Amino acid sequence: MSTVPTGASAAVLQPSEPIPDDAVSVQGPNFEESLSLQGFLDSYKRIGFQANSLGKAIEIVDRMRKWRLSEEPVPQDETEEYSSPEVRAQTRCNIFLGYTSNLISSGLREVILYLVKHKHVAAIVTTAGGIEEDFIKCLGKTYLADFHLDGADLRKRGMNRIGNLIVPNDNYCKFEDWLSPILDTMLAEQKETGEVWSPSSFIRRLGKEINNEESVYYWAYKNDIPVFCPALTDGSIGDMIYFHSFRNPGLVLDIVRDIRELNEKARKSRKAGMIVLGGGVCKHQIANAMLIRNGADYSVFINTGQEFDGSDSGARPDEAISWGKIRPNAEAVKVYADATLVFPMLVAATFAKGDS
Ligand SMILES: NC(=O)c1ccc[n+]([C@@H]2O[C@H](COP(=O)([O-])OP(=O)(O)OC[C@H]3O[C@@H](n4cnc5c(N)ncnc54)[C@H](O)[C@@H]3O)[C@@H](O)[C@H]2O)c1
Repeated sequence: MSTVPTGASAAVLQPSEPIPDDAVSVQGPNFEESLSLQGFLDSYKRIGFQANSLGKAIEIVDRMRKWRLSEEPVPQDETEEYSSPEVRAQTRCNIFLGYTSNLISSGLREVILYLVKHKHVAAIVTTAGGIEEDFIKCLGKTYLADFHLDGADLRKRGMNRIGNLIVPNDNYCKFEDWLSPILDTMLAEQKETGEVWSPSSFIRRLGKEINNEESVYYWAYKNDIPVFCPALTDGSIGDMIYFHSFRNPGLVLDIVRDIRELNEKARKSRKAGMIVLGGGVCKHQIANAMLIRNGADYSVFINTGQEFDGSDSGARPDEAISWGKIRPNAEAVKVYADATLVFPMLVAATFAKGDS
């Protein structure tokens, strides 16, 4: 009988260090037991991989929404405004929500509307499509379709594709009919008062004009939640503003006012958190505002971006820490996923629980 080579057995059977007491073991949901929605969502944190990151995102968002200034000791140099226990008990973390345009085209619009209607967020940053697609949906529907529909054929039929969604071109015609007279009125008001518009005051006005509870920006107007869109002209709104500039020139949108308002909102936040769905302008503009206050306290990124190309979209929270946009001791996570899959679960497990 030959013996097991000792080198080989030592290599394979190397003993482990003791497992720390606080180590959590991997475990999936047990469908043998009837699971409530909350129990099911809670099971994600022990599944591993991106499910684990979703579990962490749920914990971080829960801390953002439950934090009150009264949890912290009153510093000796506290301002009078924040010295009273009542004010401290009511001072919450300002949550800055960012999302790419396509998410308003998708059914995440209704999830975002819920957050804005119930005042769960303090400010929004999105891109032009994220503004106009909300208003356009009040004028005509967006339809479920297929990623593989033929572009040339769709063009002939006057249909526009966003991923596997279709928006009939008529919706944009209705949008122009709705927007043009509003642009005329806004220009007249600008000439009369001498006060120019900013992207956020423009969006606020459209939220008022649409006067429709199905609109995210109607609720942002009602609840006085500022919506920033630094590149407001990169979409159908830009086309309308372009046409309008020939017919009735002179409308001015001042981006300086908005960068000041956004950065000041971040600077004055006693606690600040970011929830950013997707990348590009919506991600970086919020992160950049956080730099003004020496970094965010909480950060949840959900996106499909990768970091190997050096893009800001793909950057992990650690890159933002190096720039001072997230504090080194902040709670931060990036969930690598399509936000349409993950965000409804994140909201169901946090804001929609109705326990804040
Ligand atoms: N409906 C539309 O998408 C639409 C409409 C009109 C204008 N536009 C314009 O197109 C330009 C580019 O759009 P953008 O900056 O909003 O974002 P984008 O579509 O260019 O996306 C930026 C990054 O976000 C991530 N991302 C996007 N969708 C995601 C998802 N579902 N889940 C997770 N991660 C996701 C990806 O990493 C992507 O590279 C903007 O200026 C916008 O105004 C878009």
